Amino acid sequence: MRPPPAPARRRRRPWGTSASLPPGSGPVRMYPGIRSRTRPGSGNGNLAGKTWVNLLEMNEICSRCGADLPPEARYCPRCGAPAQMPVSAERKVVTVLFADLTDSTRLASALDPERFREVQAGFYRAAAECLSALRGRVEKYVGDAVMAVFGTPHAHDDDALRAVRAAWEIRDRAARLSSDMDLAAPLQVRIGVDSGPVVVGAGPADQLLVSGATVNLAARLQQAAAPGEILTGETTRQLTQGSVAFGPSRTVEAKGFVEPVIAWPVEGLSERSTRRTIPLVGRRREMTLLNETLARARETSRLHLVTVLGEPGIGKSRLVDEFLESLVDVKVLRGRVSRFEEDTPFAPIAEMIRREIGASQAPAPDDERELLRSTLEEVCRAEEVEATAARLELALGLATEQKSDRPYRVAMVRTGLVTFLERLAAAGPIVVAFDELELARPELLELVEQVASRGRRLPALLICSGRDEMLETRPGWGGGLPDALALRLEPLPAADSVELTRAAASALDETTAERVARHAGGNPFFIVETTGMLLHERAERATSGLKDDETPPLPATVQAVVAARIDHLDAASRDLVRKASVFARSTFRTSELALVAEPTEATLACLVEEELFVQDGERPEVWRFNHEVVRDVAYDSLPKRERLRLHLSIADRLAEEDRFPASLAYHLERAARASLDLEPADRALAERAADALLRAGDIARRRMELRTAVDNGGGHAKPAYCAGSAKPATGSATSPARGASSNGRSTSRPTTYGPEASRIASSATSRSTSTPTSTARRSISRRRYRPRERFRPATGISRSPARFWLRGGRLTCAATTRARCGCSRKRSRPRARIPKVTRGRKRAR
Ligand SMILES: Nc1ncnc2c1ncn2[C@@H]1O[C@H](COP(=O)(O)OP(=O)(O)OP(=O)(O)O)[C@@H](O)[C@H]1O
Ligand SMILES: [Mg+2]
Repeated sequence: MRPPPAPARRRRRPWGTSASLPPGSGPVRMYPGIRSRTRPGSGNGNLAGKTWVNLLEMNEICSRCGADLPPEARYCPRCGAPAQMPVSAERKVVTVLFADLTDSTRLASALDPERFREVQAGFYRAAAECLSALRGRVEKYVGDAVMAVFGTPHAHDDDALRAVRAAWEIRDRAARLSSDMDLAAPLQVRIGVDSGPVVVGAGPADQLLVSGATVNLAARLQQAAAPGEILTGETTRQLTQGSVAFGPSRTVEAKGFVEPVIAWPVEGLSERSTRRTIPLVGRRREMTLLNETLARARETSRLHLVTVLGEPGIGKSRLVDEFLESLVDVKVLRGRVSRFEEDTPFAPIAEMIRREIGASQAPAPDDERELLRSTLEEVCRAEEVEATAARLELALGLATEQKSDRPYRVAMVRTGLVTFLERLAAAGPIVVAFDELELARPELLELVEQVASRGRRLPALLICSGRDEMLETRPGWGGGLPDALALRLEPLPAADSVELTRAAASALDETTAERVARHAGGNPFFIVETTGMLLHERAERATSGLKDDETPPLPATVQAVVAARIDHLDAASRDLVRKASVFARSTFRTSELALVAEPTEATLACLVEEELFVQDGERPEVWRFNHEVVRDVAYDSLPKRERLRLHLSIADRLAEEDRFPASLAYHLERAARASLDLEPADRALAERAADALLRAGDIARRRMELRTAVDNGGGHAKPAYCAGSAKPATGSATSPARGASSNGRSTSRPTTYGPEASRIASSATSRSTSTPTSTARRSISRRRYRPRERFRPATGISRSPARFWLRGGRLTCAATTRARCGCSRKRSRPRARIPKVTRGRKRAR
């Protein structure tokens, strides 16, 4: 259903009803074309409650021909295209690839047109095959170039790597094509790859349209590449540097880009290696458990199966690596499921056999057969050698298999492998490890389970590690097997997280280390990547850590992992995660969620199941994001127009309540930020946000709040607008900058009022006319701030009006922190209630 026409001012509805969104928004959807009906800037000074009407009163237009659609129209009156096409625009980080056949004009003039067409078609076919094998989407063919996108419709955490691999394949296939087609000169391609944010939405012919500078940059990189060269942009390099070897970077002139662009030539593909020289932190119990299980397997001469599960980046592979490396006198066989060999289900088994027989990764078939036989002759009985070799050759892809034998393939490989393992185990205990089993095909999982059950009499430890999704494909994994245990890795405890942060970046100061650790929520991958990025930035900018108001950066690698997780949710859950990200804190209530989305029990349960949301044990109506990075990534994926709409809907409700200036200022500031990006000329919302920040700051100043309280305050309280009652309880304010988890662990998130406030303020004050804001500014600039307020001016904006907005923002937090702590204006705070604040004060002194 199309949303109803927008009234200028809505009647107030009870909190938590879905109709509480601003007009023109509809429940959840964005239509392909929206147009501002009222020009911005027509405010009459009484901005509160009006600005958003100007910005959001939008007409729906036909996505195909652009004609205005009458209300309730189901088809466009001009071109007949269906009007209700709820294709939501989405911000995503994708990787774009352009591959262009070089010198095609010369080729075209040298060949008969029909022959040239065959060459062209051969190239397109080869490119499309390489791309689709790696889940890339061919977007379009332009001349002799192919454009493909990795990351739509679903993101993978390794989209950038897939794109580089596809580029590599395309280049090789083009070279082979010229020999296959007997061309006089070899076919060469220039390839450009870049990763970055884009908006994906419906295009004019109902197809998906990918828009953003990333697309243009990938095209420019392709143009700058030499024949046969693959050039990537900086973000792609960051995302793939663990698996790709790059040559020295160079700057290229990219038409349309103001700055020269840094380009990285791809020199080779290497094995994935995420491990850095950071010592293992924590995980002592898990290590002990693995050691004890191996000792038990040795003692009882029975195979033990240990499954290590956990979310992406939690340290499964690292734990297993460390355990395997610590083993002495134990034979270890390892196999990792590759993301790129989706058609060879037994690849990990082939990998472990190859290592054992001493074959290289791509040996000649005859050499491999020879090596296999000689190894089996050493370890097996003479009568077993032939049969076992034939069975293992199936796993190595060396045997020619009859069609009728296919159903028995798993059984044959299993028998061969069990015999092989039995003979190896005769000399001493063995450990067999499979990693990344969530990517394994069902045949492999079946085989591993069968090996575990058939090889029960072996002194062996079978370690299987994989992400939690593994249980989705095989919920009964390990069930029914004796001596099987599953271990789920939990996030590192707070102290270990800080230790890891310090170990990963000893140059960071203590506060920054703590903030990074807290922000990462105990996920080692997030910590390692974030510290890596901070160190990199530090080297570049010579900064000494995070500034007071700075959020830890979100590395592209982390963003890719989290975005892939969000992207694979069902539509309702994905929508809820994104919309929940507009709340200032990581913690929110069901009734708050209902302001912006339609949370159902099933959706919330799904998000808890996926470990994106956590429900408070004592107060079931309170939720939080599992990691703050999830919130950040979800927020990044919200289209700006959607952010604007959601923040304004909440701000509008808060303005009606007139009780929570801090929250109001936060939402208006965020809305203003989106509005300025979308319509820089429209200052109305920036004015309103500046007013709100000033007002909130003023209130806080009157309460004489200290900065230290802001920095150290925690906890959350029930905001009035979610209580269902008109009046909130005293002191139950909500902070825009802070939140705390239900278990008392702080999940505080610093706001970024500083630069934004300055930007909004300067934007708001760039008008010369006297506005309420400028009057307020004049009045506030006459005020003297007492030294005890201890505010540091933001870099570069000291003495400017923006400073006061900055202060306003700061003080806003202070006000709510104070209210939250339940402190009256003059009384000193009881230590027991706010120990953190008190400690923070001491530190600040
Ligand atoms: N306890 C730890 N101490 C130090 N570094 C760790 C620890 N756990 C993980 N890491 C580091 O964090 C990064 C991610 O770890 P790892 O690759 O093991 O995660 P994973 O759970 O296997 O992720 P995925 O699901 O993507 O396979 C690696 O760089 C690893 O070295
Ligand atoms: Mg892993």
